[in-house]
Amino acid sequence: MSKPSQDSEEPFVGKKRSLTGLRIFSIFLMVVAAFGVGIIGLTLDAGSAATTAAVGVVAAVGVVVFVMLTIAEGRFDKERNRMQNMWMSRKAELQDLVGKDELTQLQNRRFFYDQLQQELDLALRYKRELSILMIDVDDLKLINDEFGHQVGDVVLRSLGRVLNQQAGDRNITARVGGDEFAVILPGGSRKDAEKLSWAIWEALSKEAICETETASIFLGVSIGSGGYPWGGRTIDEIIHWADTKLYANKLERKGLKHKDAASDQRLVGAVVDVLSSALDVRDKMTHRHARRVARMSAFVAKEMKLSEEQVVQIEYAAALHDIGKIGVADSILHKDDVLDNEEWKQMKLHSDLGYQILNGIDFLQDAAEIVYSHHERFDGQGYPRGLAGEETPLGARVFAVVDAYDAMTSRRPYRDPLSQEDAIEEISQNSGTQFDPQVVEAFLSMMRRSPDGFQGTVEEYGPTVVHEGHGAHTNGHGASVEEFELLPLE
Ligand SMILES: [Fe+2]
Repeated sequence: MSKPSQDSEEPFVGKKRSLTGLRIFSIFLMVVAAFGVGIIGLTLDAGSAATTAAVGVVAAVGVVVFVMLTIAEGRFDKERNRMQNMWMSRKAELQDLVGKDELTQLQNRRFFYDQLQQELDLALRYKRELSILMIDVDDLKLINDEFGHQVGDVVLRSLGRVLNQQAGDRNITARVGGDEFAVILPGGSRKDAEKLSWAIWEALSKEAICETETASIFLGVSIGSGGYPWGGRTIDEIIHWADTKLYANKLERKGLKHKDAASDQRLVGAVVDVLSSALDVRDKMTHRHARRVARMSAFVAKEMKLSEEQVVQIEYAAALHDIGKIGVADSILHKDDVLDNEEWKQMKLHSDLGYQILNGIDFLQDAAEIVYSHHERFDGQGYPRGLAGEETPLGARVFAVVDAYDAMTSRRPYRDPLSQEDAIEEISQNSGTQFDPQVVEAFLSMMRRSPDGFQGTVEEYGPTVVHEGHGAHTNGHGASVEEFELLPLE
């Protein structure tokens, strides 16, 4: 396929130069002709008056030609400008069509990604904020099934209008999939994004999105926000972050946030398992590591004589400690090489993101606090908040010991697992610096009592997992995604 030429895009560029050339050529011809006539007149000895008159006539003809060419060029310029303007407006119309969603008249997916990249480039260059909302329509399929696709289309069109009204002129609204919408907030902060989310929810709850003969349809949407710099530095990272929050919001809206649900331990265990499996899809092998540390953390918590409720929350938190990695970009999560400073910053956001995912579910709110703090250290050298001592939730201090033990006794591609004795020795040595001495003591006494280690292959999460008398041990098989946490993270 041939590459389109410049002229095919802007057909009138370049014509001006050829007309100017013609004018210059006419002046040249006029001078040559006048000079020639003069020479001929002198050669034929026609007399100076006749020669001068002939030269004058030639010069006059030349001037007339020059003026006519100048007028023609002016007109041509005018026409050229008119055509060029017409061409540009056609081009803009075409681009508009290409970037528009036919049904809702919002921008389409392609436009959204192009525009987001442009806005992100500006945000990076001028160090200004940028936010996005990813919006998912709840139960569009139900509406289509119940009322037909025509009503479904009306609903989507009306939602487009609501989004435009709420987003205002400064922000860009787009339909990025069948029932997925998005808003770009150039210069928008995290707070702005949250404010807009609430405004959209409020607008949708106030008024039916569509009235049929038999029903008033109220629409629900799940919304997740992301942005620069708080949710990443690339489009992938920002969208991942927003999608993760969207997913959490969807869970919340499905009713999993009600405390009543917590009374059904099987349901709760299943939710924890599903979330944990969701991370496993992205970050291979986390599930087994999560199961091991969940079980061990519950044992240690039990050893410390914590309440049943605390034990359960610690177990859930341990099972889901890295759930926030769902929101970390693949390029970072699966990077073979050492992470650079910027990538580490992104990776470290997983504590905060994990908190945000779980905090939306009432019966996991204590677990959310533990997840938020699972990389804190007893001496205050951890992240994200640098909490020290008892500022860190007890569950997170329990988890820290167990996670380090599991990491040390697990095989890595670049090293053999440490023996149980060596791992225990390391834990003891870091008591009071990285680890809470109270937790280390409970961990050691449990290990002393059951040197053969933890037993059992219980698959569910929840109170049934904790059995008195089981010892502590991981056999060291299976990989763990957590790096040996005694090493500095940066
Ligand atoms: Fe982590």
